[in-house]
Amino acid sequence: LNNGVARTPPMGWNTWNTFGCNINETLIRQMADAIVAAGMRDLGYRYVVVDDCWFNPDRDAQGNLQAHPTRFPSGMRALGDYLHARGLLFGIYQSPMDQTCAQYFDAFPGATGSLGHEAQDARQFAAWGVDFLKYDWCSPSGTINDQVTAFAKMRDALAATGRPIVYSINPNSIHEKTGPLRNWSDVANMWRTTEDITNAWDTGQTNGYPMGIQNIVNVNVPLASYAGPGGFNDPDMMEVGRSGLTATEQRSHFALWAVMAAPLIAGNDLRSASAETLAILKNADLIAVNQDPLGLQAVQVSNDGTRRVLAKRLANGDVAVALFNQGGSTTTISTTAAAIGKTGSSFTLRDLWTGASSTSSGTISATVPAHGTTVFRVSGGGTSTPPPSFRLRGEASGRC
Ligand code: DGJ
Repeated sequence: LNNGVARTPPMGWNTWNTFGCNINETLIRQMADAIVAAGMRDLGYRYVVVDDCWFNPDRDAQGNLQAHPTRFPSGMRALGDYLHARGLLFGIYQSPMDQTCAQYFDAFPGATGSLGHEAQDARQFAAWGVDFLKYDWCSPSGTINDQVTAFAKMRDALAATGRPIVYSINPNSIHEKTGPLRNWSDVANMWRTTEDITNAWDTGQTNGYPMGIQNIVNVNVPLASYAGPGGFNDPDMMEVGRSGLTATEQRSHFALWAVMAAPLIAGNDLRSASAETLAILKNADLIAVNQDPLGLQAVQVSNDGTRRVLAKRLANGDVAVALFNQGGSTTTISTTAAAIGKTGSSFTLRDLWTGASSTSSGTISATVPAHGTTVFRVSGGGTSTPPPSFRLRGEASGRC
């Protein structure tokens, strides 16, 4: 979406994965302080997103949304001010339906979705200083066309406010029927491509609830051509720092989100994050790959079911290569400079987890533990005429 924001994948933190509906303004302020104290803001984690359950179940007499009186007694404008004063940005949540998702499941009864209130709610968000809206389709019924109409309505309402607001949509609840086949880059800055993530490696789902890391990667990788500046596939908020994944799996999760040009939205409790967790979330080399200005999502170079190789072209001519071991035991994964679109015979390979550099005449290879991902930043040589899978969005067809 060409609305001036999200030229690279948005980065930040969201309440949902750890806290669900158990949120309040003290928690958000503490998390904002933790983001700053941990040095994460300065690495780019700027959007603090308050997910479902922030509002009063009833609108006021004029039909305006209201903050929940005991959870957010100071109001949403004050929360936005608190975030902005710390160099952070303010994200909020709504649904294009008559109720939000938590309300559908009766955790939070009421009727406060944005249906029929789109322009009014967009103006309210802008007045509160909102910089990011997550807009969540909450029903397993409906068609892709219904979704396009509903999501485009809020896109236009946000544009009419004149405030730059990242527009994050979630069409996931009908993916089981339709698949995540649509390229939503005409509608939103980021769009969920799968059902909800959970803190597990593999739930056996292809695109049902809930999705493990491996399951999400399987769905999200083939959508690479949809990604570009202003619009990114969203494989959901991260589970780094939560229970359920080994340290190797958490590093893999982060590395894969980085090369897939995924929004890097942390979902763990940053107030108590371990040094190991912060070392993953603060890997500046992987963040640089994720935030590269070309905005490309890694394309698949090869996948034999165990060894999966992804490559992401970068603005300075380097290529980031992810060697992902999907199997249950340590294995060697190899590709070549030619296979990732490089010409020449002398390259430097920088391992973005260890920082170690090595030289190569063309072979790119690593011994990777079960569920691990080694990422090399490959520099040197030239760039071959990109094979089709490496084309920039629209290069082939002249679209966009
Ligand atoms: C479904 C979404 O996929 C989640 O990320 C979260 O926003 C919940 N809805 C909130 O109800």
